[in-house]
Amino acid sequence: MTNRRVFIRQLGVLPLLSLPVGMLGSDGGTSFLQGKREKLKEAGPMLPPVPATLLTVNGLDQNPAEISVVWTFVVNGNPPQIGISVGGEHVAMGMIKRHGEFVLNVPDTSIVEHFDKVDMSSSRVDDKFKLSGLTQGRANSVNAPVVEEAPIHVECKVSHELRVPPKRTVFIADVVATTVLPNVCDENGRLIVENVDFFGMTAGSGEFYTMGEKVGYIGKSVGRDDIKY
Ligand SMILES: Cc1cc2nc3c(=O)[nH]c(=O)nc-3n(C[C@H](O)[C@H](O)[C@H](O)COP(=O)(O)O)c2cc1C
Repeated sequence: MTNRRVFIRQLGVLPLLSLPVGMLGSDGGTSFLQGKREKLKEAGPMLPPVPATLLTVNGLDQNPAEISVVWTFVVNGNPPQIGISVGGEHVAMGMIKRHGEFVLNVPDTSIVEHFDKVDMSSSRVDDKFKLSGLTQGRANSVNAPVVEEAPIHVECKVSHELRVPPKRTVFIADVVATTVLPNVCDENGRLIVENVDFFGMTAGSGEFYTMGEKVGYIGKSVGRDDIKY
C-alpha cells in the first residue's frame, strides 16, 4: 500500500488540507457551537462515544469466569494490537494478570441492557454471566470464555502491562483471532458497519449512543478508497 503522506505530497493537495478552521465547510450545521470557548471547572477525558466492550476472562481457583465492562483503544492495525485499562479494585484484574488471555466481546444495542447489568453487578455478589442473562461460550484461539450474543469477538493475548497510579493498569494485547456473526463482515473481512447497531459510551455524560451516519472515510480527501485500517 502506498505510504499515505507521500501520496498526499505527490498529489499536491496539502495546501487544501491545511485551510484555517474558520474556512472549512460553510454548511457545518453546528452554528450554535460558535462563540467564546469556556474552561470547565473540572478537567475530564470528555470524548464522544468510545467503544465499550464486554471483557471475558477465565476465573481464578473457585471463582467463575469473569465478565466486565471495559473501554478499549486500538494500539495498531497491523500487527493488530489493542489496549485496555483495568481498575485494581475490579475482580478481572487478577484474572487477566494470571491468565494473560482475554476476549473483548463487542456488543450491539440488542444487549445494551445486559451490558448495563454487567456494569452494575459484581462477581463478589454472584456469577455475573448469570446476573446479566448473557450466554457463556468458549473462544476460538485463546483459553477464555466469550459472550455468545456479541457480534464480534476480539481474542487477545497480553504483551505489555503498565501500572498507572493511582488505580489503573493498562494492558496492551496482541489480537490473535477475530470472529464475527454472519453478515457482520463481507467476504474480504471488511466490517459492514450498517449491519450492526454498535454503541459506545460518552466520557463526559455517561450515556450510550449508536454510531449515527457515515460522514467520510480514510483517504476520501485525496481520492483513495482502498485503505482499511
Ligand atoms: C462504558 C463503561 C466503561 C467502563 N470501562 C472500564 C474500564 O475501562 N476499566 C475498568 O476497570 N472499569 C471500567 N468500567 C467499570 C467496570 O466494568 C464495572 O464497574 C465492573 O463490571 C464492576 O465489577 P467488579 O467491581 O465486581 O470487578 C466501565 C463501565 C462502563 C459503564
